[in-house]
Amino acid sequence: MTGFGTVETAIEAMKKGAYDYILKPFKVEEVVHIVQRGLDRQRLQHENIRLKDALSIYKISEAIAGSLAVETVLDLVLDATLDAVDADVVSLLLEDPKREGRFIERMRKVAPRADPNVEAPALNLDEVLPIFQEDRPLLVHGSRSFRFLAEPPDLNRRLVSFCSIPLKLTGRIIGMLNAYSYTRGSKFSEGQRKMLYVLGSRAAVSIENARLYENLVDANQDLTKANVSLEENFKQTIIGFAHALEESDRYTRGHSERVAMYAHLIAIGLGLPEPEIDTVVKVGLMHDVGKIGIRNDKLNKPGKLTPEELGMFRSHPAKGKRILEPIPFMRDIVPGCYCHHEAWDGSGYPQGLMADGIPLIGRIVAVADAYDAMTSDRAYRKALPHEIACGELERCVGSQFDPQIVPIFLVQIEEFRKLEASAGRIIPR
Ligand SMILES: [Fe+2]
Repeated sequence: MTGFGTVETAIEAMKKGAYDYILKPFKVEEVVHIVQRGLDRQRLQHENIRLKDALSIYKISEAIAGSLAVETVLDLVLDATLDAVDADVVSLLLEDPKREGRFIERMRKVAPRADPNVEAPALNLDEVLPIFQEDRPLLVHGSRSFRFLAEPPDLNRRLVSFCSIPLKLTGRIIGMLNAYSYTRGSKFSEGQRKMLYVLGSRAAVSIENARLYENLVDANQDLTKANVSLEENFKQTIIGFAHALEESDRYTRGHSERVAMYAHLIAIGLGLPEPEIDTVVKVGLMHDVGKIGIRNDKLNKPGKLTPEELGMFRSHPAKGKRILEPIPFMRDIVPGCYCHHEAWDGSGYPQGLMADGIPLIGRIVAVADAYDAMTSDRAYRKALPHEIACGELERCVGSQFDPQIVPIFLVQIEEFRKLEASAGRIIPR
């Protein structure tokens, strides 16, 4: 208020930070009105600042929530804390997964403007935890902060302000977020503490999510490893059974391995993709697994089988299917094993399927199986020579065998025998 209403006094008042300027004489209502306007403006300014802060906290917490890596979450939280409260140093402690009630410093950050050696003193948990449990705020200044610290900070450095926020999950304290200010005149405000509180509660959820996710990934990897070794084990066990079965019978010794090898040649000749070739080999190894349930000694006899014995023998594909079907990682080989005695013209068993109606792997293994059966000794006849067996395969094209597969097998087996012979290995007649 002035009685000298000059331009100079007005300018000077404004320079000194006055909101308005009143000339004498004045009415009281006029002053009240101006004060009211001033207060309104101040309130709006504060609200605007709070809104800006809230918005930045919101943006940060969105970024935190969007990350599934613990380190990234911690990094974002500490950056945001440094930013939000203008601290010299911030630290984040998390509960020791091995010891409940113990907290380990997981990350610390120093403000770019602060001394890089600035301390983030450890906490005196006996004093801090009860405050957190009672949900009381922990914001202290100067030497009053000492009782919350395990050791008072360096005497040369005066701790100006200290604020700590619990990271809580369903009432349990999983960690704490601490901010320290050593800058003279830079005390944390109650508003800043509240901002940290918001940040802390968002961080707790995100840290826990990231941890759960990492555990899940680890557990999943372990499970995958265990599963692979279990699968391998199981496969070997079944192959072992099939072998034991073959070994007990001199006529079928090595049969499955040879069928797998011939089927492999055909699969390559057909240009099948790698995973399908693997399946073909597996089917070759396992195609007769159903014979586990059949008394071979009864069937290994010279002369014809009785209809009963024939029925028993012919049940082996179905028995194999029943053995393999309940095992998830054997499911891909079930059709091949079940259909390896089907014939192209529909005269095979167990379903009497025809032509393309027979799964391809079944048709492949049928040719490989027949070739090996013919070129091996049986109880009722000696092994047939290679040429005769091939002639037999050709003769049965279109009736028993797929017309596309037999020629491929014949090319492949000739090639194979040539390679074997040139490598000095003995090949059957
Ligand atoms: Fe068979």
